[in-house]
Amino acid sequence: MLDLSGKQALVTGASGDIGRAICRLLAARGAEVGIAYFSDHERARATAAELEALRGRAPSVFRVNFGDTASSEAFVKAVCAEFDRIDVLVHAAASGVFRGVHELTARHLDWAMDVNARSLFSLVQGLIQAGPERGSLLARGASIVALSSLGAVRAIPQYAAVAASKAALEAIARQLALELGPAGVRINVVSPGLVPTRALEHFPNRAHLVEVASSRTPLGRLTTPEDVANVVGFLCSDAAAMVHGQTLHVDGGYSVVG
Ligand SMILES: NC(=O)c1ccc[n+]([C@@H]2O[C@H](COP(=O)([O-])OP(=O)(O)OC[C@H]3O[C@@H](n4cnc5c(N)ncnc54)[C@H](OP(=O)(O)O)[C@@H]3O)[C@@H](O)[C@H]2O)c1
Repeated sequence: MLDLSGKQALVTGASGDIGRAICRLLAARGAEVGIAYFSDHERARATAAELEALRGRAPSVFRVNFGDTASSEAFVKAVCAEFDRIDVLVHAAASGVFRGVHELTARHLDWAMDVNARSLFSLVQGLIQAGPERGSLLARGASIVALSSLGAVRAIPQYAAVAASKAALEAIARQLALELGPAGVRINVVSPGLVPTRALEHFPNRAHLVEVASSRTPLGRLTTPEDVANVVGFLCSDAAAMVHGQTLHVDGGYSVVG
């Protein structure tokens, strides 16, 4: 049921720790995985090398800046040229500054909204409008998973820009669930707890965040990239055939504690 053999997958944010763990899991389950990244060539190469070792051939690698409309459009075109079908789309790319509301500029907010939320909308729209002859690249039975965070539904210090973008991402995913369901395409959101990745380096108060997350998580430890990847893999499999339009928190119970 968790076998993904023969599936064609595309993972954005694949140079990040969570994106890479997702790529690794999808490939280990038998999927061919294309990867997208933004600026970190070395880490993208490392992800590609892991995939090549697992699958025996080099994956398709795309570079995209979701903060730039032309780059986003070129990315969708390149994906449509490379793939005849996408069975699994995982959107893990994210960016944004961590500042209080009084320090944020409209540009900061626009960047987070574009990279984290508009990207999902334009990527899915581009894939379902791949061309008049080809129709949608998202085949019946395809599964989309977008990565959100608790900030979509809770207030977190310094997190306003990313929080707003993740709330928008979850709203877009719900709308897509309604509109893509009849075509047999599922979409779900995975919302991890604090995962000690490179992303945390940008949090001004990271030591405090790690301490709070560690001490308040009922299951007693921080979430790992592999914890997140396992749930993404499940959502992309036939075992989750009737899971649609949901947000799954993968956080050891952190989000239910009052
Ligand atoms: N880490 C956590 O505690 C945590 C908690 C909850 C949710 N999440 C979510 O999980 C996902 C992965 O997080 P992570 O910790 O692995 O983050 P990360 O290490 O910062 O990775 C972010 C990824 O997004 C890509 N990216 C950044 N800006 C981009 C842009 N303008 N256009 C296209 N791609 C861009 C990065 O590419 P380059 O590196 O190549 O620039 C990288 O591959 C994100 O959606 C994040 O919000 C993380």
